[in-house]
Amino acid sequence: MKIGVFDSGVGGLSVVKSLLHAALFEEIIYFGDTARVPYGIKDKNTIIRYAIEAVECFKNFELDLMIVACNTVSAYALEEMREAAASPVVGVVESGVLATSKMLTKKDANILILGTQATIRSQAYEKELSRLGFTNLQAKATGLFVPLVEEQIYSGKILEAVFSHYFQDIQTPDIVILGCTHFPLILDALRDYFGEETLFVHSGDAIVASLMQQFSFTQRYENPKIEFFASQSPDELKKVAARWLS
Ligand code: DGL
Repeated sequence: MKIGVFDSGVGGLSVVKSLLHAALFEEIIYFGDTARVPYGIKDKNTIIRYAIEAVECFKNFELDLMIVACNTVSAYALEEMREAAASPVVGVVESGVLATSKMLTKKDANILILGTQATIRSQAYEKELSRLGFTNLQAKATGLFVPLVEEQIYSGKILEAVFSHYFQDIQTPDIVILGCTHFPLILDALRDYFGEETLFVHSGDAIVASLMQQFSFTQRYENPKIEFFASQSPDELKKVAARWLS
């Protein structure tokens, strides 16, 4: 299977990492819209327009499947992408909700949803989690994490100051949904902040679990062919990929 992976920038590499670990696919084409990141501060129509333009770029590759490795796009543009694409398109919100529900035994577990402004504004996670009966939800837009990750700041004083700014009113959660694919890059720092007891849901691991449920994979591809494309400075993206995926 040849798949496309799309994100606004480098964040989707956290999903690629999970896909490589699971060795499900023979060929991966990654596209990061680095010229226009962040998407999380854009409005719905702009996010949909960018997402459809990404679908058009992927049409050069005859994909079997497209993975939207971006929560913001998954929350707003999945239907439009499905209409425009020649292959099936899967997003990360649905699989994130499924993974969360599987990790929890109590419906009143304290769930903290982190995401971009747009993802939190969409309430995509809250709607699905409430539908499944979860009652104790907190949500926080933590968009500043995106430029920090794009700047390759994964730890240290600046990040700690941003944590204090965002989390001062937050009750310690049982589980944190990393509702933005940039956030797993600062997972170690988040774990240090919230403590060992708190669980984390990662879009990459969640989508792998969901794909394994939907498709039957008979072969492992330990060394898939992988190509990286970006709308700006592709070499920068490749450098981050080399560092993050090694
Ligand atoms: N990585 C993206 C997500 O999962 C969004 C980052 C952004 O462009 O704001 O939501």
